[in-house]
Amino acid sequence: MPNNKRSVIVAIDGPSASGKSTVSKRVAEDLKFVFVGSGAFYRGMTWKSVREGVEVKNPEQVIHLMFQLKWNFYAENRVVVFTIDGEDPGLQLRSEPVREKVATIATIPEVRSFLVERLRETKRFGDMVMEGRDVGSVIFPDTPLKFYLDADPQERARRRHKELVQMEGEGNVSEVLDSLTRRDQIDRTRKIDPLQISLGAKVINTTSLGIEEVVSLIVSNVQQAISKGL
Ligand code: C5P
Repeated sequence: MPNNKRSVIVAIDGPSASGKSTVSKRVAEDLKFVFVGSGAFYRGMTWKSVREGVEVKNPEQVIHLMFQLKWNFYAENRVVVFTIDGEDPGLQLRSEPVREKVATIATIPEVRSFLVERLRETKRFGDMVMEGRDVGSVIFPDTPLKFYLDADPQERARRRHKELVQMEGEGNVSEVLDSLTRRDQIDRTRKIDPLQISLGAKVINTTSLGIEEVVSLIVSNVQQAISKGL
């Protein structure tokens, strides 16, 4: 029998290190929904470009490579992951060259339209929480469940620095702040699908909130909406 039930989509957007990823993963776990980190798709494209020696500031080279790649998407423990040309990029998605170049790749309109389509297709995995920059504004503008997380830049730099120290054993808070500010600037000012608060999104400032508080705020909001038939 065909499954006509529409997927429930929770869109969580915001700048880097606003707490989005951690919160979104936890919200997905609590609701037993699939989690999709849309930034990973842009990071995947960047990782492969760096790997193939493609200059990310040259859109033609990037687009040419993009159409040669074979992406395969699947859900593993309710998290959507992928391979590119049979390879799982894993932690390399968080490496320094990728994080420095990803925002530039994400300004290329053809890359965006290609990845937005791939991201929309993940609906086939079922009810989901997707986090990113344009989930509520572009990828799933019709979902009524939109949240925008933000935090002061200093606090975001402190969080990202802590993460980097855990991952790479080192890091400098002011360098992290510079790198975040650079990336935010590109994300907010790009001509296509910039980071913005989408219409109808609930804005949550996480600067002085704990993860648990933000998670339960979103989960209860979603549950209430579902119980009212959305
Ligand atoms: O969320 P994450 O830090 O992994 O995102 C990496 C980069 O991917 C962002 O800085 C942004 O340039 C790009 N991105 C985007 N649209 C999204 C998700 C990420 O442009 N929906």
